Amino acid sequence: MDVLRFTTAGSVDDGKSTLIGRLFYDTQQIFEDKLEEIRRNTHRDDDEIELGLLTDGLRAEREQGITIDVAYRYFSTPNRKFIIADTPGHEQYTRNMVTGASTAELAVELIDARNGVIEQTRRHAFIASLLQIPYMIVAVNKMDLVDYSEERFRQIVEEFQSFSDNLDINDITFIPISALKGDNVVDPSGNMPWYNGPTLLHRLENVRPEADRNQVDFRFPVQNVIRPHQDFRGFAGQVASGKVRPGEEVLELPSKRSSHVESITTLDGDVEEAGPGDSVVISLTDEIDVSRGSMLVRSRNRPEAVTRQIDADLCWMNEEAMRQDRPYVIQHTTRRTQAYVSKVVYRTNVETFHREEADTFELNDIGRVELETADPLFIDPYKINRSTGSFILIDPDTNDTVAAGMIRGEAEDVAPFGQEEMATTTERDTSPNVVWEGLNIPRQAREEKNEHQAAVVWLTGLSGSGKSTIARTLEERLFDRDLQTMMLDGDNVRHGLCGDLGFSPNDRKENIRRVGEVARLFFEQGNVTLCTFISPYQEDRDRIRGLLPEGRFFEVHVDCPLEVCKERDTKGLYAKAEKGEIANFTGVSAPYEAPEDPEIVVHTDTDDVETCVDQIVATLEAEGIL
Ligand code: ADX
Repeated sequence: MDVLRFTTAGSVDDGKSTLIGRLFYDTQQIFEDKLEEIRRNTHRDDDEIELGLLTDGLRAEREQGITIDVAYRYFSTPNRKFIIADTPGHEQYTRNMVTGASTAELAVELIDARNGVIEQTRRHAFIASLLQIPYMIVAVNKMDLVDYSEERFRQIVEEFQSFSDNLDINDITFIPISALKGDNVVDPSGNMPWYNGPTLLHRLENVRPEADRNQVDFRFPVQNVIRPHQDFRGFAGQVASGKVRPGEEVLELPSKRSSHVESITTLDGDVEEAGPGDSVVISLTDEIDVSRGSMLVRSRNRPEAVTRQIDADLCWMNEEAMRQDRPYVIQHTTRRTQAYVSKVVYRTNVETFHREEADTFELNDIGRVELETADPLFIDPYKINRSTGSFILIDPDTNDTVAAGMIRGEAEDVAPFGQEEMATTTERDTSPNVVWEGLNIPRQAREEKNEHQAAVVWLTGLSGSGKSTIARTLEERLFDRDLQTMMLDGDNVRHGLCGDLGFSPNDRKENIRRVGEVARLFFEQGNVTLCTFISPYQEDRDRIRGLLPEGRFFEVHVDCPLEVCKERDTKGLYAKAEKGEIANFTGVSAPYEAPEDPEIVVHTDTDDVETCVDQIVATLEAEGIL
């Protein structure tokens, strides 16, 4: 029977224990202590491999887990077994929540219907998103105390969604319940006829956690070498992800020596396949060197990096603050080595989700760091592999787990605070799940119908040089000729699409990158797309050029001497900049790189608007656009 691990979160009075009690009571469960069960099993007189396998499997789980108190509770229905990581909600909530959630496939977030979304709700949701818990149930509890009001429920749903939209949570179900009265927990409620969604238990029974387990990338961290007798040597451990079958080729890390799987043994004997979460003993056809801490993978599907530099999100869980000058022990799958925190990149404010500058983390702090380890680790990004993408840090003196980490990747050049955000957006990997949808109607068809070609006309120049004025007049002219046009203007997009960006070099780069992508979309829809941006860097402009077919990008240098722009100072910004009231102002305290080889140069200090526009139109005609 399959198992679902879930965690419950909420603040003290939200009714967590009532809810758990209700689940047990209504499903007629008695509390079952897993340790008892284990003790019973380990005393059986099984043959050595099986015994070794069992204890090693369990030890693996314990060693890879986090050693902080979480009460695990078990119950089952005819359809499924459940493991609840019940974490004390009152104090040190981040730590407890992280602990409970680290292996959870679903999180139940309890909200008191009377109070609605509170600070802790946001904190929990953030952690659930950070830990990539595949499913979330938001249980709006104590509905009996708000007269089972549909309106109140809707309000809370909206409140929750208003911030959860910014988080990376894939699947949220909202359920109005009363744990105390039993509404919608196990049995559907007669008190809320307006609700026709699932009950809590129904949802718990029907989510498909296995769909979110990584079935593709085979990773087998070796827990132990088992040699029950001369003729057998096997490697015990838990399959972290992916699948393996006898006969398949595997590679040992770190040696990169390859061999083939001879057999896969479990408690129930030999099997034809092992998948994520299975505790097995694997034997190989060759005597290659494999030891505890080795990892078996496929030769054509290796971990993202074998590295000593790690870029990770980290939750600090110890009373003693993080120190950069002392070594910790890092436990990553079955490997342990020494690690230093080499850089604190930022701390995340879990109430506002903003990033803050920091040089240490204290209890419950969450943020991003870089680590340097003594031995290489075989890492994958946490988003792709929750198992090989996570680790814990241990204090070697006290043996306490001090932090839990989620790997982003190899730390190469994580930019310093402030610039980091841009660096990642600009270089962000595209999600492997996004495919470039071919356009329904190809550009060529639109161009034929429009009777002109699509193009991007990119006006670059100093603030006050006249870019927008020219573009407006140009657009009117094109419009009068029945051309399809679109306009993107710096001052406008900076209110919306790029409202989160400032004027640092990285922000400008990101500004231009986004605008360029939008311009490309407009272009593909057949438009003559007019863009007016200072866009002070040649490199950024070149990037846009690279997005478009040859001959369709027109870089227009709107040339006007700085002194003239300053004199005009249409928006009064130069004056402010000179007084030091605006930082990074182009021409004053930030550079402008004039185009090296533009298609068109117009001179707004000597020519009037019409003349400049004529010039651009003439070029577009000559190049066959119009
Ligand atoms: S760009 O450099 O990233 O291309 P963009 O064209 O989007 O700049 O925005 C420029 C407009 O923002 C200017 O017209 C001006 O009104 C305003 N602005 C505000 N602060 C600055 C600054 N520090 N440097 C330049 N323009 C600024």
